Amino acid sequence: MTAPLFDKVTVIGLGLIGGSFAAGIKQRGLASKVVAGSRSARTLEKGLALGVVDEATSDFADAVRNADVVFLSVPVSAMAATLEAIKPGLKKGVIITDGGSVKGSVIDAAKASLPEFISRLVPGHPIAGKEKSGVEAADANLYVQHRVILTPTNKTDPAATQKIRALWTALGAEVLEMDAQEHDRVLAETSHLPHLLAFSLVDTLARQGDSVDIFRYAAGGFRDFTRIASSEPGMWHDIFKENSDAVLQALDMFSDGLAQFREAVVKGDSEKLLAIMTRANSARAHFLALSARSSFTRATTTTDESSMSKAVQSASAQWQVMPGGKLSGRVRVAGDKSISHRSIMLGALAEGVTEIEGFLEGEDALATLQAFRDMGVVIEGPSAGKVRVHGVGLHGLKPPARGLYMGNSGTSMRLLMGLLSAQAFDVELTGDESLTRRPMERVAKPLREMGAAISTTGNGTPPVNIRGGKSMKGMQYQMPVASAQVKSAVLLAGLYAEGITSVTEPAPTRDHTERMLTGFGYSVARDGATCSLQGGGKLMACNLEVPADISSSAFFLVGASIAQGSDLLLPHVGINPTRTGVIDILKLMGADISIENERDAGGEPVADLRVKSAKLKGIVIPEHLVPLAIDEFPAIFVAAACAEGETILHGAEELRVKESDRIQVMADGLTALGIDNEVYDDGIRIQGGQIHGGEIQSHGDHRIAMSFAMAALRADGPVVIHDTANVATSFPGFAELARGAGVQLESL
Ligand code: S3P
Repeated sequence: MTAPLFDKVTVIGLGLIGGSFAAGIKQRGLASKVVAGSRSARTLEKGLALGVVDEATSDFADAVRNADVVFLSVPVSAMAATLEAIKPGLKKGVIITDGGSVKGSVIDAAKASLPEFISRLVPGHPIAGKEKSGVEAADANLYVQHRVILTPTNKTDPAATQKIRALWTALGAEVLEMDAQEHDRVLAETSHLPHLLAFSLVDTLARQGDSVDIFRYAAGGFRDFTRIASSEPGMWHDIFKENSDAVLQALDMFSDGLAQFREAVVKGDSEKLLAIMTRANSARAHFLALSARSSFTRATTTTDESSMSKAVQSASAQWQVMPGGKLSGRVRVAGDKSISHRSIMLGALAEGVTEIEGFLEGEDALATLQAFRDMGVVIEGPSAGKVRVHGVGLHGLKPPARGLYMGNSGTSMRLLMGLLSAQAFDVELTGDESLTRRPMERVAKPLREMGAAISTTGNGTPPVNIRGGKSMKGMQYQMPVASAQVKSAVLLAGLYAEGITSVTEPAPTRDHTERMLTGFGYSVARDGATCSLQGGGKLMACNLEVPADISSSAFFLVGASIAQGSDLLLPHVGINPTRTGVIDILKLMGADISIENERDAGGEPVADLRVKSAKLKGIVIPEHLVPLAIDEFPAIFVAAACAEGETILHGAEELRVKESDRIQVMADGLTALGIDNEVYDDGIRIQGGQIHGGEIQSHGDHRIAMSFAMAALRADGPVVIHDTANVATSFPGFAELARGAGVQLESL
């Protein structure tokens, strides 16, 4: 029981919605008295008998007399008459709210009938229901974890809105606020239109079927599509009448879409048909992901993506990894993230259809894929790692309808900055909480020198805004940091620039962009530390095979090295020499890794890696290997923790601006597990020792989470790792593969 928020609450109309509202208030003691008004004596008797309300009357003016809050739960078509009926009983200062599913007409009715109470009107729409109706079905918990949309007008007293918000919150609901017109438009599109279509389709077919009962042949698809045609006609009659303007607008929009679909069928236009359906597939997948995370169960009070994903993460996965075990068997790790991103980008800008196999279906690469769909590129899949990209040519991208959301993916954002600075349209790039903290000026600066109009925030972080229509000029860029993302962004902009664009790197970084450009028939010259290309050429579609990601393999290389008795095979791993620093470093520490069956896969070298457990020793990590192992340090730190003696790393300040500050976050985790370490500005010293059980905060960094899962192999107690949902950004399926190989990992 809570202290009552109100003295008297009156509910007019005691069906499921009003009855549940009353029951919830009574059960939680939110009002000293709950009174019902209804024209049906039977309903009132039932309400009293069930204890849903304290008092009941059929006289509406009586019912609302002295009430602090009046909740109107009558059909929208009865609203005007109901307002007239309650008017004589309303006290000054009452708050009037309702539960109707159309808001504009309720506000109009109130303006006409109760102009003097308009500042006290807080229209609302609880999005909740049940199969059953009537007060008999009233449920005090109906609104728990359901959304309620409030649509206060510009005349509504904010204090009144606040009180109604507090009431719904106390009933367990999550409250959103929206403009009434916006509410009616959104509901017309996402609820009223689908109901109209379902009713209409079933009726149309039913009217055809004189000779044969076609429904005998209908199957699951028909049942799914038409489920909502079983809804209550009376209620929907009211909605279609009361929200007719918005419903008609939604219907017109739909008719346009249908006409385009029809035309594609008439013309046999495969490209257009696929474009419509792949867009629909991905939009529905997005909707399902959102509703699984929030919608009716875990609503957030915002539709802003970054806070949405924050809410998801905080509510999300944890692992408990039991100590001990060894790794054995054959593990095919997920596709290479860097190559997957680039395969979509170059495929989209090429002429012709690019077929990709082994594509990483992780959230980062999918963010890139979605961005190109948003820019009008038809992309089929991914399905079991297969993707078909219908290239639009270097100048074929279309302006996206809204900003491009890059999630957690720095590679998507930075490479796209290069590519988008040369387009004809403006675009905004946003990301999640982690990406929003990462430096973007390192890319923006050289691009500006080439002629781009790019802005970042005062801190040089996202959102990134790019103005289109700029002509780009080639440049010679001496990169101050060894970054493949910066190099790639400049080269991608160079495709559009006048003259030659060249980039000189202070140390070798991954060269997937250069290799893949060559594979797409675009020539890239390499002279020592400098690579260059001439703008104005074109890319020709090709077939690509994405190797397994050496960065994802790193966790298994370390796990098998540290867990006694391990013998593991990692097939088809990319061993591009700009990525193999982890193998070199682990070998210097004494790891037993052999590279077998070396071959070429579409311009990238691959091999099977065989790793057996070995006694590791601490080393001073050679600085020239740092850029070649930049993503693998979290795993290497775990190897260092299990090595004899100390391991020292310098020259790795870049680790501080990855998905998390990987030096500090790893140091904190190692300390939590009892491993002595000392943090430097540009590195760390780790003293090998006994790993204990403990709790790890991964700060939503995928690689931190996976590294500590492997640390448990050598721990003397369970390791609990928090905030592991982002593992899906680079390595979906990690937990299952790790379990299969011998890590005793349990998702909590
Ligand atoms: C990447 C380059 C590296 C790496 C990132 C992927 C790429 O970033 O850390 O995970 O695909 O180009 P930097 O360029 O910032 O070093």
